[in-house]
Amino acid sequence: MSKRPICDYEGSAYRTDFWGAGREYEDRAERVALRRLLPPAGRRLVEIGAGYGRLAALYSGYDEVVFFDYAFSQLEQAWQLWGDSGPDGRPRYRYVVGDFYALPFVPGLFDTVTIVRTLHHAADAPAVLRGVSRILRPRGVFVLEFANKRNLKSIARYLLRRQDWSPFDHEPVEFAELNFDFHPAWIQARLAEAGLTVERTLTVSHFRLGLFKRLFPTGVLVALDRLMQPTGALWRLTPSVLVRCVAPADKPAAPEGDYFRCPVCGSTALTTAADGLTCAACGAFFALRDGIYDFKTALLEEEGNEQQAG
Ligand SMILES: C[S@@+](CC[C@H](N)C(=O)[O-])C[C@H]1O[C@@H](n2cnc3c(N)ncnc32)[C@H](O)[C@@H]1O
Repeated sequence: MSKRPICDYEGSAYRTDFWGAGREYEDRAERVALRRLLPPAGRRLVEIGAGYGRLAALYSGYDEVVFFDYAFSQLEQAWQLWGDSGPDGRPRYRYVVGDFYALPFVPGLFDTVTIVRTLHHAADAPAVLRGVSRILRPRGVFVLEFANKRNLKSIARYLLRRQDWSPFDHEPVEFAELNFDFHPAWIQARLAEAGLTVERTLTVSHFRLGLFKRLFPTGVLVALDRLMQPTGALWRLTPSVLVRCVAPADKPAAPEGDYFRCPVCGSTALTTAADGLTCAACGAFFALRDGIYDFKTALLEEEGNEQQAG
């Protein structure tokens, strides 16, 4: 259970307010990098902080895709867009509401985990990375996008004394409430602590400036970005960085048939009914509403009880 603050997107118009506001270049450049880093196919993938499922098309090679997010309303939008079946009519998508500090999945379950534009909402990023490492199967792949504090714009602003925090300091900076930028070296160290080995790094959004976007067609900027992304192996000065990491080969895989893990007590003994799941160990109930598993309500109830008890 988590007592950490959460950046709550419930009811937000993220899709239209953010992505409808002139960010086609960022979206396309990000997809180029993700295609380069993602294993194209696999059995099971989860995107943590999936929002309305913007990136679903990139996951088409997976037998099962789990959209995980704290905001029920984001996943409702994802459901409207993608439903639960793939093009062959077989069930493909699962929708799970919960907290990335208390992932409700058994250890060793996923071939691939992605986090894109979401870690910057984590006040305790190392805890999130530990959770990711736990749910990856042996040699599973984690693709992470993170906001880079040491980017050219922030360096220039710092040198011109228009920004008080140093982009060279390794600690995360909270530039707005529950919005953090990270130093690449800090992220690399936290990934290593979580047992994840970085295999490849790409820099993304080299041209995230209004001036460039006004002067050049989006396709040209995306083509240039594509050319420059591999320089991530040498230096990382863009606002967005993507890394592909791999989990150790000697960790256990999830036993066949195991799937959810109770985020309240950690038990993997959950019994299934038409309206949800019940934890056989602690009795917590997790509802299945409109095709979306809700692991958040029980966490909040538990937190409320503890606060009352205290
Ligand atoms: C900026 S959006 C990114 C959505 C998607 N990954 C994309 O790139 O379009 C960040 C998402 O993180 C989710 N989020 C924030 N805190 C979370 C938490 N504690 N647990 C799970 N999801 C969280 C928000 O609900 C939101 O949908």
